[in-house]
Amino acid sequence: MRTQVAIIGAGPAGLLLGALLHRQGIDHVIVERQTPDYVLGRIRAGVLEQVAVDLLDEAGVGERMHREGLPHDGFSLCFDDRHHRIDLHALTGQRVMVYGQTEVTRDLMDARRAAGLTTVYAAENVHPEGFGGHTPALRYALNGTPHRIEADFIVGCDGFHGVARASVPAQAIQTNEKVYPFGWLGVLADVPPVHDELIYANHPRGFALCSMRSKTRVRYYVQCSLDDHVEDWSDDRFFAELKRRLPEADATRMVEGPSIEKSIAPLRSFVAEPMRFGRLFLAGDAAHIVPPTGAKGLNLAASDVGMLSRALAEHYRGSDAGIDSYSQRALARIWKAERFSWWFTSLMHRFPEAGEFGRKMQHAELDYLVQSEAAMKAMAENYVGLRLDA
Ligand code: FAD
Ligand code: DHB
Repeated sequence: MRTQVAIIGAGPAGLLLGALLHRQGIDHVIVERQTPDYVLGRIRAGVLEQVAVDLLDEAGVGERMHREGLPHDGFSLCFDDRHHRIDLHALTGQRVMVYGQTEVTRDLMDARRAAGLTTVYAAENVHPEGFGGHTPALRYALNGTPHRIEADFIVGCDGFHGVARASVPAQAIQTNEKVYPFGWLGVLADVPPVHDELIYANHPRGFALCSMRSKTRVRYYVQCSLDDHVEDWSDDRFFAELKRRLPEADATRMVEGPSIEKSIAPLRSFVAEPMRFGRLFLAGDAAHIVPPTGAKGLNLAASDVGMLSRALAEHYRGSDAGIDSYSQRALARIWKAERFSWWFTSLMHRFPEAGEFGRKMQHAELDYLVQSEAAMKAMAENYVGLRLDA
């Protein structure tokens, strides 16, 4: 089998890249290790920047997002049991779209099926080869039968634990990493949201986030220990802990309900450099991870594949300028998003080893932030993604 671009991974990065390449008339195949249901069962991101919204529109899959997604003009920063509204729209002229990653993925999968595009699911032993030369190929097995796809380019959209980055010779890649000493315990439940905007709360017991997927479905998180197990967190224990970290009025108003999904995610900052190795490119979580506080992971994956799809289209029109500068341009944006995500994470979580001085500094920084129009504007510009392109 032969194609122009072989994509590893059918998460949001791989599926969106496929949709954008298809629009440009570029032939491609996606090879994914899991089944479609498994991919759709992973509950993750919920906030889309304008850049991601625009790319989904460009890919022709934005219709349901505009119908069912919730545009948010601001969010609430909570500390000392008080709300401080960050008015994203007044500060930046932009808003964000609350629309679940699961729904983005479902829309992209449906559009692929309707367009008759090839996605190989449940592929075993996926392995890129020959990307240092002129004839790269993707090997995999399906029900034990070996397959090989020859391509002009291979793109690793296979997430943090994928095979693409791991296939690069160690001396050709530099990795930068910080692991945080806590995780996020997340719960999905069919109850009305406690507030009409997202609440990010700093509390002496730890961070809490009240997000949503719709007017009838919530996604709530509490900072937890890395030693915690989901089984130890009953729904009652989760809601009791969440309410303790919110102002009393919110705790009183909170509607509780049985969890549909409950999981613990570790927090990490990670960047691999560069993002191109001959005819292999990395995009999305395969190249970088941000702690989720800034809601940047899915948005970075989208902006990577937006850049890469344009660069590949330019290549097929006769110019390699775009693919030659892809890594450097993507990384410039990524490092800005890494800084923001690290800063917002540091501001909002309880760091066990920081001590009393660290806690007081965090409080002084929060006070400064909500009293400074310039600081709030900078934060808002980062949150909506404007500052990342500067
Ligand atoms: P993935 O979604 O990881 O997809 C990679 C795909 O590759 C998977 O389907 C995987 O099965 C497949 N794969 C892996 N290995 C192989 C292989 N060897 N062969 C073939 N296929 C393979 N981001 C935001 O922007 N906003 C948020 O609000 C937000 N909240 C988050 C909350 C949580 C709790 C978590 C965990 C993450 C959150 N993120 C958020 C991050 C966001 O979910 C990720 O950045 C996003 O999923 C990255 O997409 P991706 O396609 O690059 O990688
Ligand atoms: C969600 C996750 C985030 O990390 C965030 O900052 C905002 C919302 C969510 O899952 O809805």
